[in-house]
Amino acid sequence: MGAGLPGKKEKLQFSFFNHKKHFGKEYLAFFKDYENLKYLNRPEYMKKINPNLLKEYIDKISKSKNDIMWAVHLNKELVATVKLGQIDYYNGYCDLGIMIGNKKYRGKGFAKIICKYVINYAFNKLNLRRIEGSCISKNIAMNKTFKNLGFKLEGQMIKRNKIEKRYFDRNIYALFRKKK
Ligand SMILES: CC(C)(COP(=O)(O)OP(=O)(O)OC[C@H]1O[C@@H](n2cnc3c(N)ncnc32)[C@H](O)[C@@H]1OP(=O)(O)O)[C@@H](O)C(=O)NCCC(=O)NCCS
Repeated sequence: MGAGLPGKKEKLQFSFFNHKKHFGKEYLAFFKDYENLKYLNRPEYMKKINPNLLKEYIDKISKSKNDIMWAVHLNKELVATVKLGQIDYYNGYCDLGIMIGNKKYRGKGFAKIICKYVINYAFNKLNLRRIEGSCISKNIAMNKTFKNLGFKLEGQMIKRNKIEKRYFDRNIYALFRKKK
């Protein structure tokens, strides 16, 4: 399954994250880049990356009925991972998380295209009605991406997450499915 890029012939390719296929060098490299890690609020990844820890996480996600993760490729290169997590089918909501782990592809508006794909999946395939997302106030690109996608700011958790010894607010966003 793909998503087009403006002005380009190539398409971003989406596949469900498969730990045999996608858990490799390229994916592990995402966790060696400080820019990927600093806003994730996962201090255990900040030291030397422990592949076993990541493997445990991926195994948990793969077995879960309430999480779906995709690997996103462009020309066979791993660009990003994106996840609909904590899917609650009863209440009809989930949480969206994205990492453009390959720095070559950051700052090019890819997050918006990738998120649009999974938003469409959440609303039209899973029939959910609400998607939630959150990020640290300092993460300008992610805050802008949520806003550009139509997410509304629902609240702020004050001085919640630590980055380099300082505490920052966490912004909470949500997007509702449009009435059909
Ligand atoms: C956050 C992330 C997903 C954003 O993806 P991206 O495709 O690189 O986003 P972009 O750089 O295209 O930025 C999105 C918007 O923010 C704007 N922006 C980015 N940095 C900015 C800055 N320092 N000042 C002002 N605007 C900025 C861009 O201009 C763009 O705006 P536009 O769409 O209106 O033109 C990506 O940087 C990433 O994966 N980072 C590491 C992991 C992470 O932080 N994930 C989110 C955890 S909650």
